[in-house]
Amino acid sequence: MATYSIVDLSRREIFRMSAILGLTSVVSTKFAFAQAALQRTPGQIRGPFYPLKPFDQNADLTKVPGRPGRAEGQILNVTGQVVNLKGEPVRNSKVEVWQANAHGRYKHRSDTNPAPLDPNFEGSAVLTTDTEGRYRFKTIKPAAYPVGPNTVRPAHIHFEVYGKQDRLVTQMYFEGDPYNSTDRVLQSAGRTELLITKLLPPPPEFEPESKLVVFDIVLYAG
Ligand SMILES: [Fe+2]
Repeated sequence: MATYSIVDLSRREIFRMSAILGLTSVVSTKFAFAQAALQRTPGQIRGPFYPLKPFDQNADLTKVPGRPGRAEGQILNVTGQVVNLKGEPVRNSKVEVWQANAHGRYKHRSDTNPAPLDPNFEGSAVLTTDTEGRYRFKTIKPAAYPVGPNTVRPAHIHFEVYGKQDRLVTQMYFEGDPYNSTDRVLQSAGRTELLITKLLPPPPEFEPESKLVVFDIVLYAG
């Protein structure tokens, strides 16, 4: 295992490392967090496609119960840690996620995008953070979608996080999306780097053709 100097690592890198390696003892997160203050994850609009049906309890959005097929698109394993501004894990918190499919279409009656639905894509899920504040789910990379004659929203996944004391509604984006730089919603965040993720090689326990995405979430009090 490579060795890292804690002072060389940003907190996001530390989160990312611990999520990838499945280890929190590799680095002293408390010590690392003391090096600099954490920033709350920027909020984003909830948008018009918040699910109307109950959120699926299954953390695998690539399959629909009772159907043998699998969702189209690049498989992603999305994980991250929910913490407060002190870096303390927010345990047992509810995390709702919802997103468009690989064609940019939501499974929602208000979505007028003519792009096709994917009958094998679940579209949303509700998750619970573990004792380290960590969540994870399997999904596909959503596509960008039009929201007007000359406006396209970059690919993103919606999150709503219910801490014990505060709630956060936000959106997670992908590095390299050509629409990131012109998207008013993303740009309203200010520190957009806190919302933009990378597609990383999968750890051995994941499907080799899948990608790992790490999105850590910082609440105020948790
Ligand atoms: Fe959206």
